[in-house]
This record gives sequence, C-alpha cells and structure tokens, in this order.
Amino acid sequence: MEGGVHGLHLGPLETPADVETCVALMRASDPWKRLRITEDACRRTITHPQREAYAAWRGQALVGFVVLAFQGPLSGYVQLLGVAPAARGQGVGRALMALAERIAFARGPNLFLCVSAFNEGARRFYARLGFQEVGCLTDFLVHGEDEWLLRKTRGPLMATPAAAASPASPAGPR
Ligand SMILES: CC(C)(COP(=O)(O)OP(=O)(O)OC[C@H]1O[C@@H](n2cnc3c(N)ncnc32)[C@H](O)[C@@H]1OP(=O)(O)O)[C@@H](O)C(=O)NCCC(=O)NCCS
Repeated sequence: MEGGVHGLHLGPLETPADVETCVALMRASDPWKRLRITEDACRRTITHPQREAYAAWRGQALVGFVVLAFQGPLSGYVQLLGVAPAARGQGVGRALMALAERIAFARGPNLFLCVSAFNEGARRFYARLGFQEVGCLTDFLVHGEDEWLLRKTRGPLMATPAAAASPASPAGPR
C-alpha cells in the first residue's frame, strides 16, 4: 500500500519490534504521557486481538501507526493514531487517516474517534479532515481530563428511508 506521500509505505503492523516502536512512541509523547497511560496499556491497546493495527514506514523506519476497532456500537473507531515527532507535519497522519477511512467506509458509514480536550493541534488536524465534534466526555479516561467524541460520516446506518421505516428494523420508528 502506498500512502500518497513520497516514499511512504503503509501496511499492517505485524512484528513485535514494530509494536515496541509504537509503544515507545506513545510513551514519549502527549497525549499519552500527560494521561499517564502505562506501557502495558499501550501495548495491550495496540495488540488487542479484535483490533486492526496499520503502520507507515519511510524506508525501514516506522514513522506512524493507526489502530482501528470494529466491535461495539461505535463500529469504525480510531483507537490510536500516532506519528513519530520527527515525521510530523509531512502528511503521514493524513495518509494514515486516509487509510483508516478507506477501510472503515468499506464496512460502514462512520468513522469515530476520541481526542483529548487539551490536544488542540490534533483537534485542528481532525477538523481539517472533516470530523465533527459530537460531544464532550468528561473525565472519560482519567479524572480531570475530558475527551471529545468525533465523527466523520457518509450517512445513516440504515442506508435508505425504506430500510429505516421497516417494521423488521430494530431501530426503525414504531
Ligand atoms: C496529530 C498527528 C497524528 C498529525 O499527524 P501529522 O503527520 O503531523 O499530520 P499531517 O502532516 O498529515 O497533517 C495533515 C494536516 O493537518 C495539519 N496539522 C497536523 N498537525 C497539526 C497540529 N498539531 N496543529 C495544527 N494542524 C496540524 C497539517 O498542517 C496538515 O494540514 P494540510 O494538509 O491542510 O496542510 C501527529 O501530530 C501526532 O502524532 N501527534 C501526537 C499524537 C496525537 O495527538 N495523536 C492523536 C491522538 S487522538
């Protein structure tokens, strides 16, 4: 997979060494540092068997990663997105989010994520990508820090008005 950015290669995150590179990136960077996310929690989130992790490489160097989740009510959820500090501002995050969109929108109409209220740069980044802030989850991950729930959508879950109105549809009007 190519990222649309010169010299960038995107693909599934596979090796333990790549996982450890992502863990180290998280451990050294906000928002995870400020939220005091433990090394173990970082590793578990990246390697969770029901999630899908993808990375971006420039040559041999892993320069970013994204983790997606498709379980639960918010299917199509960006669990993690990180770019190595030296590679930021060069289109890597945008390329990883384009990959996340391609994968998620092939399976459903929504892409969700949470971003810390204090993470103003990332909030601007997501706004530029067309995400809308749905609501504020107070004290969501840790006490004293709020998370904004964001959504980018291509339409309702029920694709057609007829499907939404069907009596067989659990979410349809009664
Ligand atoms: C947020 C993050 C993933 C963005 O990745 P990136 O590779 O630096 O972003 P890109 O170079 O692809 O930028 C894409 C666009 O967003 C803008 N942008 C990126 N970071 C930004 C920031 N901190 N503030 C404002 N705008 C930003 C860029 O200017 C660019 O706009 P353009 O395409 O219109 O020129 C990266 O900065 C990062 O890893 N931050 C720390 C971890 C983090 O906050 N992760 C998200 C947790 S929810």
